[in-house]
Amino acid sequence: QTGYTSYDPGFVNTAPTSSGITYIDGDQGILRYRGYPIEQVAEHSTFLEVAWLLIYGEVPTAEQLEAFDHKVRRHTLLHEDLKRLFDALPHSAHPMSVLSSAVSALSTYYGDSLDPKDPEQVEMSTIRLLAKLPVIAAYAHKKSIGQAFLYPDNDRSFIDNFLWLNFGLMAEPYKENPVLIQALDRLLILHEDHEQNASTSTVRLVGSTEANLFASVSAGINALSGPLHGGANEAVLSMLGDIRDSGEGVHRFVERVKNKEDGIRLMGFGHRVYKNYDPRAKLVKESADAVLKELGVKDELLDIAKELEEIALADDYFIERKLYPNVDFYTGVIYKAMGFPTRMFTVLFAIGRLPGWIAHWREMNQDPHLRIGRPQQLYTGPAERHWPTSR
Ligand code: SDX
Repeated sequence: QTGYTSYDPGFVNTAPTSSGITYIDGDQGILRYRGYPIEQVAEHSTFLEVAWLLIYGEVPTAEQLEAFDHKVRRHTLLHEDLKRLFDALPHSAHPMSVLSSAVSALSTYYGDSLDPKDPEQVEMSTIRLLAKLPVIAAYAHKKSIGQAFLYPDNDRSFIDNFLWLNFGLMAEPYKENPVLIQALDRLLILHEDHEQNASTSTVRLVGSTEANLFASVSAGINALSGPLHGGANEAVLSMLGDIRDSGEGVHRFVERVKNKEDGIRLMGFGHRVYKNYDPRAKLVKESADAVLKELGVKDELLDIAKELEEIALADDYFIERKLYPNVDFYTGVIYKAMGFPTRMFTVLFAIGRLPGWIAHWREMNQDPHLRIGRPQQLYTGPAERHWPTSR
């Protein structure tokens, strides 16, 4: 025995988190937002409409959605002093690091919306985050490429404004191109929530201490940045590029994954919950084909991705381990075709996931029996011993 101390199961708080926001059946590959199947939501809705559904629990009326959209448009401006934060960070900074830093800094500018127990302040911080995160994201992009920041244009829709802030006049082709606007809207919808994933659980744990929404979301952004989580969409593009550049071919790469050479994994494959095809991956793959066709882009990385999927889905190694494409497998191909640099892919995931983070943080704070999070541990260290006095 290495001093291993047993524990009384009676004390272990093994109750899972309960939530009424998102339902997942990993074996069946089912995902529902407030009861609505993801396939129907992605087909008929918009990002802000789904944000309302996740946060308030019902599909908004036309009037509610219009008022929500209007409020978000009116709060896109960043405090001019906050924009100086970007000057303090190197242009080589990863945009996810910039994002979490700037979101945390929002709490220093908006002291009037920090109290998680004040409904009005919760509303204000909700609107401010939904409005300002895309602007911060665009500024992180512009900073990384040495271009000037643009001011948000409140006459533009949420998606249109985001494209304007990132690409300026280059975004004009998007304005006339509903396929691209719809594709980006759909991608953001597909990321809006996913139950108790690592970043959402982080937001809930930080929020359970009564930390403000900005601080909780900043922590969630950092959790999402890891390559096993949201950072996977960026890692997939690097993986596809390595396969292309190595000239070794897809089959050889798959063999290396199966042999676990250098610990490599098939990024964009596998999931803690889905042991079937991630329903979002199917929808993203459809969008990838539509966007590349619309842009008249032929991307060999998409061809490599499709060949990888075909080989893996027929290979016992992946079948036995129930490894299927997840939401990150095809998204990067689309973001790349739209002109986003690879390092912005996880930032786009964060913009998509923000409504889910907010919805979970609010749901938890509305629980009158909320207690601070305190994960249990199994102690595996030495039993009690005495400090050496003879030294
Ligand atoms: C997201 O939780 C969420 O909902 C997350 C998310 C969301 O919307 O919030 O869906 C978003 O994070 C999707 C996942 C993105 N990550 C990746 O694509 C990274 C690559 N995938 C993995 O590293 C892995 O599949 C995880 C992290 C996603 C899940 O890991 P698990 O379920 O803990 O699986 P595991 O590490 O226990 O592996 C089980 C076996 C192992 O083999 P053996 O030791 O049994 O021989 O499967 C193998 C692993 O080596 N395996 C893989 C693999 N994933 C697992 N082998 C090759 N390639 C992979 N991708």
